[in-house]
Amino acid sequence: MRIHRRPASAALAGLAAIAALATGPAAAAANGMALARDGGCLVCHRGAEQRIGPAFREVAVRYAGRADAEAVLARHIVAGTGPDGMGWQKEGKARLPFMPPNDGVAPEDARQLARWILGVSSEIVDAEQFRSDGLEVSGQVAHPLRLDVAALREFPARSIEPAPAGERAKADRRVSSFTGVLLRDILEKATVTFGSHFDLKKTVVVARATDGYRVVFSWSELFASPIGDGALVFFEKNGQPLADDEGRIALLSAKDASLASRYVKWLKTIEVRRLAD
Ligand code: HEC
Repeated sequence: MRIHRRPASAALAGLAAIAALATGPAAAAANGMALARDGGCLVCHRGAEQRIGPAFREVAVRYAGRADAEAVLARHIVAGTGPDGMGWQKEGKARLPFMPPNDGVAPEDARQLARWILGVSSEIVDAEQFRSDGLEVSGQVAHPLRLDVAALREFPARSIEPAPAGERAKADRRVSSFTGVLLRDILEKATVTFGSHFDLKKTVVVARATDGYRVVFSWSELFASPIGDGALVFFEKNGQPLADDEGRIALLSAKDASLASRYVKWLKTIEVRRLAD
């Protein structure tokens, strides 16, 4: 994973220097959060919630009191923790055995991120900033779409009630129904373009959230398998609009073995892509 750094002009650098004068805990926290968001860290990390990587507050607890904590974490942030890793997955606190390098992160930014992470004790995400009010459908389609909840309500509505068993119940015990539109119906309206029938078999649909989280479906899964009957772009849970912590539009794949595996909060874009050979 790389950070694409915007070219900073001298004027911007000057502004940054002035901004850096506005220090204090609040400014440092906002800065850490901005670095984490722009660095793609939030795709895998949260403050209190375990995602692909450990929750930052768990990292803060593990390294508390270590004099070299900041230097060690800064090094791991840039270089990753591979190939043997730091054991977070073995402890059940991460979903990958190691962190890939984040080699676009500058050393001074890594240092700042490390310092910030060591001070994290609660959730870091201000859900408001991730809220998705509109969904864009683009790529290999005849009619690119921009849909808000009102526009989604004009499609045939579909409610899905996932079986309250095992993994599903764990993913969200309180949810009994999701209401929205089948991803397939949205793609039909946008009309996937193709030259020959073989094109469709190498067509994929990438769903992306405002925080950078992404999941992929293949065209065949959606249009020629039961998965398509459960791939739902939803805007209501138990008859209520989605709250800021995942709204207003989200996506789930209700026919997957685990409901958590393709569940996208803050859904922002649906892109139809063709794999190049
Ligand atoms: C692709 C997912 C992914 C991304 C992106 C990612 N991390 Fe991680 N991170 C992980 C995983 C997985 C672990 C647990 C690694 C292990 O056990 O070795 C981890 C561990 C860490 C740790 C603890 C390391 C230690 O020594 O125990 C820190 C700190 C951290 N990440 C910070 C960051 C920061 C800052 C960024 C953004 C610049 C970032 N991560 C981006 C997946 C990710």
